[in-house]
Amino acid sequence: MNKREIKSTITDYNSLAELDQKYQELVQKAKEAAETAYAPYSKFKVGAAVLLENGMVFQGNNQENAAYPSGICAERVAIFYANSKYPDVPIKAVAVTANTKNGFISEPIPPCGSCLQVMLESENRADKPIKVLLYGKSKITVAEGIKQFLPFNFNKEMLK
Ligand code: THU
Repeated sequence: MNKREIKSTITDYNSLAELDQKYQELVQKAKEAAETAYAPYSKFKVGAAVLLENGMVFQGNNQENAAYPSGICAERVAIFYANSKYPDVPIKAVAVTANTKNGFISEPIPPCGSCLQVMLESENRADKPIKVLLYGKSKITVAEGIKQFLPFNFNKEMLK
């Protein structure tokens, strides 16, 4: 028997002012995207903003459906949109937040497993870690790369 310990590091910031200007703007873009989400079923409006290495920003939000599983999360809308327009430009960062009937969430939400898997593919494809910024009113949680969330992951190496 051999136990393996896998560690991750995430950093919490108390205010947006502690972040670089470009990441403050990215969080603002995620907040803006959340406003126009289509979430009549969950009433949980998620916004995501993707910053490419070339400086471009792509926004996305969750799109729900009466047939629930046909809906899609904000992160995947934004990432697929960015990757579809600029397939060869690495993603530098992704910001995520959500809006409920009580306003913006207080505690940041981590992306769901499917979104993390999609972000991992983009990260591996470009061979550059994607910075993740999760905004909540009480704190902003930042992770340097998707492997902080998925340290033990399925990827193309396993298909060899
Ligand atoms: N959702 C996202 O858009 N991103 C996440 O990371 C978690 C969940 C959406 C899916 C669904 O429309 C609503 O939030 C409730 O789960």
